[in-house]
Amino acid sequence: MEKKRRNSLEWISYFTTNSQQHRVDWNLKPTITSRELQPILQSLQAWQLGETSEGKNLIRASTIHAKKIGDLNYLNAVELFIKEEQKHGNNLGRYLDSINEKRIKRDWGDSLFRKVRYFNTSMELWTLAVITVESTAQIFYQCLKDASDCALLKQICTDILIDEAPHIQFQQERLEIIFSEKSFWQKQVSFFFYHFFFFSTSLVVWFAHRKLFKAGNVNFIKYFVKMESKYQKTIGRLYPFHIPSLARIIYHFLFLNRTVFKRVN
Ligand SMILES: [Fe+2]
Ligand SMILES: [Fe+2]
Repeated sequence: MEKKRRNSLEWISYFTTNSQQHRVDWNLKPTITSRELQPILQSLQAWQLGETSEGKNLIRASTIHAKKIGDLNYLNAVELFIKEEQKHGNNLGRYLDSINEKRIKRDWGDSLFRKVRYFNTSMELWTLAVITVESTAQIFYQCLKDASDCALLKQICTDILIDEAPHIQFQQERLEIIFSEKSFWQKQVSFFFYHFFFFSTSLVVWFAHRKLFKAGNVNFIKYFVKMESKYQKTIGRLYPFHIPSLARIIYHFLFLNRTVFKRVN
């Protein structure tokens, strides 16, 4: 069912209420085994670093955007959104501390993403990047949760997963607003770029974190089918026709035998 679009004040109220929810019991002791930890540790450390960004560049892009559309409340909503991301980084860091593993300071994926973020002052590119990365994050945290029996780690992942769905909605609504102001031809070009960006970034995330995805029982085909469905619910909704990826076509012919090409409203 389609969710109602929230205005900036409603988002501020949502983020404020959500920040008061404490879903992790820090009295629990970590019980992860070294066998469980081995395939996930590097990715856990990289993701922890990625979640701790100060968000200065996003604030910069949001300030320009908020002034342009005359909605300064949007800036406050973005600040609360960044705070929630930092909570994820803090919780993952606290978990790494509790199992005596270090918090890393550098990671190639993170450094690359930080450089791209530094030069990016466009709200459109920000929302596109966040929707894409948050979609991979939903699969990532579900796999992290499934890769171990540790109750503390499961609670941390559940808490993050509860936060992530509204994060995507928050950015999706912004992209919809920006996209709707484009001309017919601008829409064609942008949509092609969104599609390319979403799936090429998904591919990079798969290669960087495939060990963790596999530990959570998600193989390459499953990963892409999940990403495809996330794409349809977000960026794909902006445009009436959906182009299925090769992974989806193979998956449907092999397992589901359903119509592959379908119209999306
Ligand atoms: Fe996050
Ligand atoms: Fe998020």
